[in-house]
Formats: sequence, structure tokens, C-alpha cells
Amino acid sequence: MRTVNVPLGNRSYEIRIGGGLLATLGGRCARLKLGPRCAIITDTNVGKRFAKPAFNSLARAGFSPALIVVPPGESAKSLKSVQSCYDQLAVHRLERKSFIVTLGGGVVGDLAGFVAATYLRGLAFVQVPTTLLAQVDSSVGGKVGVNLKAGKNLVGAFYQPRLVLCDLDTLQTLPEREYRAGLAEVIKYGIIYDARLFAQLEHDFPKLLRRDQPTLAAVVARCCEIKAEVVGQDETEGGVRAILNFGHTIGHAIEAICGYGKFLHGEAISIGQVTAVKISRRVPGLSKRDADRIVNLFKRAGLPTQIRLNSVQRRKLFAAMRLDKKVRAGEARFVLAEKIGKVVWGRRVPEVYIREALDS
Ligand code: NAD
Ligand code: GLY
Repeated sequence: MRTVNVPLGNRSYEIRIGGGLLATLGGRCARLKLGPRCAIITDTNVGKRFAKPAFNSLARAGFSPALIVVPPGESAKSLKSVQSCYDQLAVHRLERKSFIVTLGGGVVGDLAGFVAATYLRGLAFVQVPTTLLAQVDSSVGGKVGVNLKAGKNLVGAFYQPRLVLCDLDTLQTLPEREYRAGLAEVIKYGIIYDARLFAQLEHDFPKLLRRDQPTLAAVVARCCEIKAEVVGQDETEGGVRAILNFGHTIGHAIEAICGYGKFLHGEAISIGQVTAVKISRRVPGLSKRDADRIVNLFKRAGLPTQIRLNSVQRRKLFAAMRLDKKVRAGEARFVLAEKIGKVVWGRRVPEVYIREALDS
């Protein structure tokens, strides 16, 4: 088992990464001295596979868990689901000392994390991410929230979990398309922070694609280390945390205009990252060699790298980008790559560059 610490003073927490960890959930929650009542929030796909072992582990450790199940998919990240979770928490009489376990992918983590942040003005919560995307990204760092029709993640909070438990065994049942979508966030860490990780991914990609567990353990741990380092420096995204949004301004806009769920989040940000790479060729001047290596890795992951938009969709895309949370004075700001392993952030980009990058 590997351990990564997220350094946030008295709100620091550990990310545990390894096989067989779900069975240890209850014992680990007991060590956190959490109150006896808790609720597992999961979705139907994950619940049917992993709710029972999670429930049993908590019960064995002396907790009284309730189970709340939401529908799978991005559309569950809504205020309607938040309301439904609140109602069920009230029925199960959760108290201030109670806690929530989020069991699932980024959708469940973001939704249930937001519920934890707001119910009774905040309950403790533990993230048990079961997708690759959630293990390397969404379960770490405390961004929780839901979507509005107008845009992704427009309602939310920064609210840190008490523990993140990445059981690599759970990744074995993840559908292939979902697994590959998670690789988009993995590749992101190489581009934004770690040229060595990027080279290791190029080398180990066949093993990663077949979900080889030792390779996964090393890669998930390195991604979590990077995220922990960045979040430790800038929890609420005043500065450097923005680099984690590489490809996300365009990616989130694609998700919003195509209807949540048409593109998986990882697929949309794959297109967003490749578009950002094309813009980066002009500013700040990414080399052709690095750009080709990046595009090639997304292609090896079987991820989409381009989107065809008609003029109406194009207009909607630019409107959606202006609603992005990274907008300043009405203008979207971009994270751009100088070279593999190093990015700059907060850059204004002329609209014509974005249009040309989308078309090329
Ligand atoms: P997801 O939560 O929708 O899960 C993907 C699908 O896989 C779902 O159908 C789910 O039921 C199923 N599933 C999950 N685990 C499984 C398993 N082990 N076996 C079989 N099926 C399984 O999608 P996701 O890609 O994990 O998360 C995407 C969400 O994460 C987006 O809403 C995105 O905005 C958010 N996100 C948040 C952050 C953050 O910092 N909070 C970062 C990145 C992404
Ligand atoms: N996934 C972006 C962030 O956590 O900041």
C-alpha cells in the first residue's frame, strides 16, 4: 500500500492506494474517531458491486451505515440529487458528528462531497473513489459541487475529505470507455508538472491499458502526489492550482453544449487538452516535437482529440467558455504548455487562435 499526504495544516489527510482496501474502510474510519452514524452515498452501478463490502466493513467496525443510491452518470450531479440526499439523511437522522462515505466515481464524489459540505453546515466525509479519474483527481483536493444547465460545477465549495481510500481492485470492473476517459487526467499530470511521468507513461502505456496493478499503483500514487503538492500550495485556486485545469475551459464548454453525458468528462478534456496544445504552439511556443508526443499519447489512449462544430454550436461553445469559473473581466483564461512538464496559467488568448485550433 502507498500513502500520500495532502498537507493542509490541521485539515491534512492521507490518500491510501493499494489492493484490497475496501475491506479496511471501517477500521480506518474508526481511527478518525468519527461518530457512530454514517451514510454511504453511491450510484446504482457501483452500489451493486461494492456497497455490500463497504457496508459490512463499516458495520464490523461498530458504525451504523445507511445507504443512499443515486442514478449513475453526469445528470446526477444536480441540485435535484442534492435535495434527495438531504431528505434521506434527515430520514436516517444523521447528526453533526455523523459522516458520509462517497463510494463511486467523480460524479458521486462531487455530489456527495457537496452534500457533506452543506448538510448541518458540514459533516465529515471519506472519499472511496472507484474510477481511475476519481482516484487520480476528483477525490483529492476538496472541490465538490454540482452542475447547472448553464455550466459545469457552477455551484460548489472547497471542502476537504478526512481520508481518501483508492482501492485499485475496484478499477477492474470499470467499463473500458470509462477507464480510458480517466487516462486523460493521468496524461494531464505529465503535461502540466512532470516530464518524467510523461515519459514513463509513454513507456508503460501497454501495461497501463491492461490495468496492470503494480503499474497502476505507481501511476495513481504519482498523480496523487502531484495533486497534493499543488493543492497544498494553493487550496482555493488563487494561483498555481489553476494548472490542474489544463484543457478544462474548452472541455467543460464541450460538455455543456453537447448535453451532459454525450462526451464523458475525460473525453471532453482530452479534446480540450489537445486544443490547448495547438494554441500553445503559438503562445507560448510549444515545440512541434512535444505537441506531437502529447497528441500521440491521447490517441494511444483511444481518446477523441477533435470535435466538429457547426456555426451555431461554435457560438454556444464560446458563450459557455465565458461562463467558466476561470473567467476574468468576461474573458476566459487559459493554461498553456511551454514544454512537456511545464505550463503557464492565467493567459488571455485571442478568439481567433481558439477558432483556428478547433479547426486544425
Ligand atoms: P462517473 O462518476 O460518472 O463514473 C463513471 C461511470 O462508471 C458511472 O456510470 C459509474 O456508475 C461507473 N462506475 C464507477 N466506478 C465503477 C467501477 N469500479 N466498476 C464499474 N462501474 C463503475 O465519472 P468519473 O469519470 O469518475 O467522474 C467524472 C466527474 O468528475 C465529472 O462530473 C467531473 O466534473 C468530475 N471531476 C471533478 C474533479 C474535482 O476536482 N472535484 C476533478 C475532475 C473531474
Ligand atoms: N480538477 C481540478 C482541481 O482539482 O483543481
